[in-house]
Amino acid sequence: MSATVHRLGGKHAPSLDPMMALVAPDMNLVNTIILDRMQSDIPLIPELAGHLIAGGGKRMRPMLTLASAKLLGYAGNRHHRLAAAVEFLHTATLLHDDVVDSSDLRRGRRTANIIWGNPASVLVGDFLFSRSFELMVEDGSVKVLKILANASAVIAEGEVNQLTAVRRIDLGEERYLDIIDAKTASLFAAACRIAAVVAERPEAEEVALDAYGRNLGIAFQLVDDALDYVSDAGTMGKEAGDDFREGKMTLPVILARSRGDADARAFWKDAMEGRRNQDSDLAEAIDRVRATRAVDDTLARARHYGQRAIDALGMFTDGAARQAMVEAVEFAVARAY
Ligand code: IPE
Ligand code: IPE
Ligand code: MG
Ligand code: MG
Repeated sequence: MSATVHRLGGKHAPSLDPMMALVAPDMNLVNTIILDRMQSDIPLIPELAGHLIAGGGKRMRPMLTLASAKLLGYAGNRHHRLAAAVEFLHTATLLHDDVVDSSDLRRGRRTANIIWGNPASVLVGDFLFSRSFELMVEDGSVKVLKILANASAVIAEGEVNQLTAVRRIDLGEERYLDIIDAKTASLFAAACRIAAVVAERPEAEEVALDAYGRNLGIAFQLVDDALDYVSDAGTMGKEAGDDFREGKMTLPVILARSRGDADARAFWKDAMEGRRNQDSDLAEAIDRVRATRAVDDTLARARHYGQRAIDALGMFTDGAARQAMVEAVEFAVARAY
């Protein structure tokens, strides 16, 4: 039986704590860089960015850069700045994503777009993207710059691909996977991969860390898409049902629809095309994704990718770093927030 499945059924709930403990001193430095670099003489910038950043978040992506560096025994300090660059990329995409998704809750707080409006969110997102690239340039590695610049372009492609797929009832699993690979997994992959570059490790280790991050990222987004139907704002810090209201064809919907009868197919078509957006419609959607086991199978897919992520770590020496990275995967597939 796989480690993932084993741990999921186990007594202790997997968490990010081991990874946090592993990189705590590094993460403090990264947080200092983040707070320093979000500053600007234009008051709205630190006000708006600070609102989102002070909301916390799991900081998974920068932690993955730091943990990957530890895994490789890297002893320098370049990864601190780069981890901050990675979190800035993530933060910028969240600001833009909440505008695009019309979301009103993030990290347990009202979103920046609700408080300051869409234009301010978009522009401060652009500022954070730019700050992120400044940090990369200061590092000076063209190879790192290439990896993160590519990830940034691919994330944007993923979000645009998703935008053009919205309300498309016939969206298939393959295109859905392309979308989540691009919008989410590419940054996880890059966050891990750049650690191998700064540690000057052979290509094979770069590729392995990329595969670890990518598969973890896919698992992470699959779970996110399941939670949108079965979790709640109090637990997630963001509103449940956002995907349903926006007509996003995520895997729970794709599976529930393909497993349903004519009545179910009519329901999903009406819902995804925006003709069923009452709370009672969301409640019905939740019943349907549960009854067809669409949520269970979305989570089963997440475990599959999670196992692939864990397997990608096989070539590295076992120890605290590798164990923390395995548990991060177990957390991602079992998480409730
Ligand atoms: C949210 O990412 C965006 C997705 C890829 C689902 P996180 O769940 O990592 O967000 P924070 O940083 O912890 O708030
Ligand atoms: C992830 O997709 C967004 C990005 C990777 C930018 P979602 O739209 O599902 O993320 P949440 O649910 O808003 O955090
Ligand atoms: Mg969103
Ligand atoms: Mg989501």
